Amino acid sequence: MSIPAHVAIIMDGNGRWAKQRGLPRVAGHRAGVEALRKTVRNAGEMGIAWLTVYAFSSENWSRPKSEVTDLMGLLKIFIRRDLAELHRNGVRVRVIGERDGLEVEIRTLLEEAEALTHQNRNLNLVIAFNYGGRDEIARAAKRIGEAVAAGTVDPAEISAETFANFLDTAGFPDPDLVIRTSGEMRLSNFLPWQTAYSEFLFLPCYWPDFGKADLEDAVRAYASRDRRYGGAPARDVAL
Ligand code: FPP
Repeated sequence: MSIPAHVAIIMDGNGRWAKQRGLPRVAGHRAGVEALRKTVRNAGEMGIAWLTVYAFSSENWSRPKSEVTDLMGLLKIFIRRDLAELHRNGVRVRVIGERDGLEVEIRTLLEEAEALTHQNRNLNLVIAFNYGGRDEIARAAKRIGEAVAAGTVDPAEISAETFANFLDTAGFPDPDLVIRTSGEMRLSNFLPWQTAYSEFLFLPCYWPDFGKADLEDAVRAYASRDRRYGGAPARDVAL
């Protein structure tokens, strides 16, 4: 079976999961962190090499202040409590998104996680935090503009490939499979450049309920897709 090298997940539905149970939203996010822990473990066991998760979007700042504080707190707890285990399991942590504007404590934690794990090779865990795809592309354009002004990049040489080197995901493979839980069917500014040829899977379950069987089913569904990248169907090419 063809295992996707890179799975990207929009972990949606924490709030509804909590509401269904008469719990505060933060309880849903806590359960979401637990589902993330398990998914990292399961992805590693299944031989998935890259896992990118949307943990906090640039647009999430518009949520009530208390919820933003809860999400920041959960990231701190996740890094503090889980970093040692992630490191032991050979997980390399990488973070994409805008670092400016984050609390110094969070920035330091993210940098520590990246530095400690940078030689690990089992699974790349990419945490999209304070991430927005359009913002990422605009920041890349700004950096290219600066490089042109400094004379280190020739505008005539800018191509999709060279542009990608200025994105937060420079050097990462594009996602093969994007999963979104909770029944919503949209991308919400998650990796718009990188998902040009990704396969998409929208699942009805809320993120805290996403388990090993769901990941296995998703990988099976991916394996049955016919990826063409704009070319002809594989079966016709073979004829
Ligand atoms: C969407 O659910 C989820 C988020 C906005 C955040 C995802 C965060 C986690 C899984 C936990 C945090 C993990 C880390 C590492 C910080 P929602 O709140 O939009 O749910 P709803 O649409 O049902 O309201």
